[in-house]
Amino acid sequence: MQTEKQVIIDGLTFVPYLTREEIATQVKRVGKEIAKDYEGKAPIFLCVLTGAFVFASDLIRSTGINDAKITFIRYKSYEGTSSTGSVKQIIGLTDDIKGRDVIIIEDIVDTGLTACRMIEDLKKQNPASVKFATLLFKPESSQTGFVPDYIAFKIPPKFIIGYGLDLDGKARNIPDIYVIKED
Ligand code: IMP
Ligand code: MG
Repeated sequence: MQTEKQVIIDGLTFVPYLTREEIATQVKRVGKEIAKDYEGKAPIFLCVLTGAFVFASDLIRSTGINDAKITFIRYKSYEGTSSTGSVKQIIGLTDDIKGRDVIIIEDIVDTGLTACRMIEDLKKQNPASVKFATLLFKPESSQTGFVPDYIAFKIPPKFIIGYGLDLDGKARNIPDIYVIKED
């Protein structure tokens, strides 16, 4: 399938980076890994809004775990194209996770601050286990040493949009992933 050569949002130019086919292949791989690791279990998937909703929708269906539950939580740390360094919880968890196997689903791990803060918050509720699945991981941006348990793609520390990822709320509905163009 032909992807658009470039997209311009808020005056910034983005070029194609990962196609929907490449994304689908890696999402299915991660889904199979999770299915194998959680055989006989009924995990709770915890989708981190807003960015992870597209990935979560494909990932949970690719696991084929019919006993799983899905729930949502919302954190915010980014403004424009960089992290503000402070992580805010905007929508809290409504389900009881005590004694449950939780799999957090995130769109991207950049500094790792959101991930660490979330895991710390969740562990206070005594889940049986907490694992972390991310679509994208920028290892070179880490400020925490955090490494996700399931990773679809490791990428360099560049700003990405599409497939759920946004620039100030825009571009989440683009089916492919684009990277910011550097001059
Ligand atoms: P962290 O706390 O720095 O790891 O950042 C996590 C959050 O920042 C992610 O859940 C995203 O919402 C946002 N973010 C980080 N990098 C990007 C990017 O390249 N594009 C869009 N959002 C990003
Ligand atoms: Mg996010």
